[in-house]
Amino acid sequence: MRKFARLALSVGVPTVFVLLMPPVVAGQSTKAATPTFTKDVLPLLQRSCQKCHRPNSIAPMSLLTYQDVRPWVRAIKARVSSRQMPPWHIDRSIGEYLDDPSLSDKEIETVVRWIDGGAPQGDPKDAPPPAKFRAADEWAFGEPDLVVSMEKGFTIPAAGRDTQPSEIVDPKITEDRYVKWVQMIPSANCCVHHSHVYVRAPEGADRDGLSLGMGSNTDEEMDLIEYGPGNDADFFADGTAKLIKAGSKFRFAPHYHSMGEEKHDIERVGIKFYPKGYKPEYVVTSHRIRTDVGNMWALNREKVEDAILKAGHKIDINEPRMPTGFLVQENPLHSATTLSIPPNTVATHERFWPLPQDALILSFQPHMHFLGTRMILEAIHPDGRRETLTDANRYEQNWQITYTYKTPHLFPKGTILHTISYHDNTANNKHNPDPTNWRGWGSRTMDEMGHGWTDIAFLTPEQYQKELAKRGKAPAGTRTQQQQQQ
Ligand code: HEC
Repeated sequence: MRKFARLALSVGVPTVFVLLMPPVVAGQSTKAATPTFTKDVLPLLQRSCQKCHRPNSIAPMSLLTYQDVRPWVRAIKARVSSRQMPPWHIDRSIGEYLDDPSLSDKEIETVVRWIDGGAPQGDPKDAPPPAKFRAADEWAFGEPDLVVSMEKGFTIPAAGRDTQPSEIVDPKITEDRYVKWVQMIPSANCCVHHSHVYVRAPEGADRDGLSLGMGSNTDEEMDLIEYGPGNDADFFADGTAKLIKAGSKFRFAPHYHSMGEEKHDIERVGIKFYPKGYKPEYVVTSHRIRTDVGNMWALNREKVEDAILKAGHKIDINEPRMPTGFLVQENPLHSATTLSIPPNTVATHERFWPLPQDALILSFQPHMHFLGTRMILEAIHPDGRRETLTDANRYEQNWQITYTYKTPHLFPKGTILHTISYHDNTANNKHNPDPTNWRGWGSRTMDEMGHGWTDIAFLTPEQYQKELAKRGKAPAGTRTQQQQQQ
């Protein structure tokens, strides 16, 4: 490499090439161009790293000051250039997202050149003012109207296997209320891998808008919030809300991991409601689009077959066979029909979910365990056209990231949401404890899952037309030029 660099210099290649070389090779000329901490790197750290890398937060070290950062430059170079940090595990070229912390290729190059150039501090006068962050136990958007807390909470031992307990609490909500924002604050955030609060509507409650059939299992419980590292609050844009029915119970469902010290966790969830009597235009519900081996989607085959064939997809509804070799704690048949991951194989599973109504798709959050490596969400339009919405092609089971679309996707009824999950049960997967085991669905950490959570606002036909008009699109039913050419 060095030899080549010298040679390159002697024939006078463009400066941009020279800048990439270590100073020992390129000499004086690079000094001026080496990025500095204060001017070039600190703004990137403030935007993309410090939310987690600051004292008393979830990351192992602080990256606030030059003194904090300097000992970590080698690790930073490795994690940043491999795109492991900041955690954002999707193909950046598809779609636009809110709060996207990821670095552009150019920004990564700046960090790498800074480190390769000796990681100089630069002029302190160039530094931007320190970024302001709230404390982890502070409400993000002001005081909530209601705080519901675990009553007993859970003790997480200093060492041991992950646990996923749950506790049901009565929030004493006596009338239907619409949620403007919701936030969770655990007391032992060191040890919370992620945590859900589910809402159980009372027996016999009008489930209109909550129970929407195949592919979405909000029949029993609605997901109110999922807390994950660096992701603790959901704020609904004006006119959109989650609905909590009167008499509902909350179920806290944390997933804990031990961190070397015994801790007790009491989780609190804070909720700000819309004013009483105000009815927001759109109610948001969370849907778990589950993968399936095949027999369940056979039930709605008629509805989806046509569109799937149009999209050029193979239809295969072979009845799953009982697996052997691994006993799953839960009902083994259910486990196998939901996911079947043979040993030494990269298995893919799909789900086709026809939207039962016109809808806005607000966000996507893939969820798999150790073997999960990729999940794709695509839309199959009624005319068979396929559109990738999100490709989580570098999925990391450690992270539960919600990807919120900058502009929600608007789809007519009958559009099929299609998920494809990849589980790598080979020795190539560094998280795989044993590639000789068959794996199926189950809720233990060592079992597998494969579903995409989506937040959706279902629309009336009038609301759909209004949204179309807002986007300057032709009303439904009018064929666009592009479609006519197909
Ligand atoms: C959403 C929170 C979050 C963000 C944002 C984030 N990190 Fe991290 N980072 C973590 C956590 C948690 C760990 C420890 C777990 C792990 O290694 O994945 C970590 C680990 C690291 C490590 C490895 C430390 C070691 O022990 O070797 C480096 C280096 C790092 N981060 C750098 C960065 C940089 C640079 C950025 C911004 C460009 C960034 N991180 C953004 C949460 C975050």
